[in-house]
Amino acid sequence: MKISNTFLLRKLHQITGVVPLGIFLFVHFFTNSKAMNGEKVFNGAVEDIHHLPYLLFIEIFGIFVPLLYHSVYGIIISSEARVNVGNYGYGRNWFYFFQRVTGVFLFLFVFFHILNFRFGLIPGLNQTPVAGNASLAFSIVSREFSIVWVLVFYILGIAATAWHLGYGLWLFVVDWGIVIGEKAQKYMLYVSIAVAVGLFAVGTNAAFSFIRPCGLFPKALCEGAEKKGVVEPGKTGKF
Ligand code: HEM
Repeated sequence: MKISNTFLLRKLHQITGVVPLGIFLFVHFFTNSKAMNGEKVFNGAVEDIHHLPYLLFIEIFGIFVPLLYHSVYGIIISSEARVNVGNYGYGRNWFYFFQRVTGVFLFLFVFFHILNFRFGLIPGLNQTPVAGNASLAFSIVSREFSIVWVLVFYILGIAATAWHLGYGLWLFVVDWGIVIGEKAQKYMLYVSIAVAVGLFAVGTNAAFSFIRPCGLFPKALCEGAEKKGVVEPGKTGKF
């Protein structure tokens, strides 16, 4: 019997991807977007998170445990699956294939990312954890994103995350019988693709906000924050 066919374990894999991890990613990309308004605003947002009550509990049971289960079970599914499975059309087979490719890539990316920023454990790159150092958060990230290969790697990570979550939503609502009927599932696919494109745009703009005020948007859109005395990226980094 294949582990990937075990009903309960599979449902648990789908629900962990959508509920704790999906919600976390929306919040995470939103927090990162605060970098559009400069160093002070971003560091303040990180500081607020560090002062949340039950933070360690939320981190362990809301992020790390679901992430570990979702990643390990996802790798098992990928290794047991055949390349052309399913009764989906030609396009859907490709979508499902990308779901597995992005999953395997994300396993490596997220592992690197958590060691890098959360724990500061990448020798030669960053050895200052953001956890416990909110006042340095912006300068830690902006120093790294000025290195071209790191920025490219993160944009690939954001793209993989956006696709994986967007199409994951579609797989979830179809498999759980929430969206039934061919037409409804087709419309749901458009919604999922829109979620993926939106997440990619927001995540990429957040990444660029660490090396350029307001990211890829005209600076005028973020002027309000600058006028209120918010510091521009790179002008005060004490890191
Ligand atoms: C613009 C891109 C990104 C930036 C600037 C960024 C920034 C950060 C920072 C600074 C932390 C450490 C937070 C702290 O210790 O207080 C962190 C943690 C984390 N990030 Fe990201 N991140 C980005 C993209 C991503 C992506 C694409 C994913 C998902 C696959 C992701 C998943 C996580 C996870 C799971 C943690 C650990 C959460 C925790 O320990 O509380 N991040 N990120």
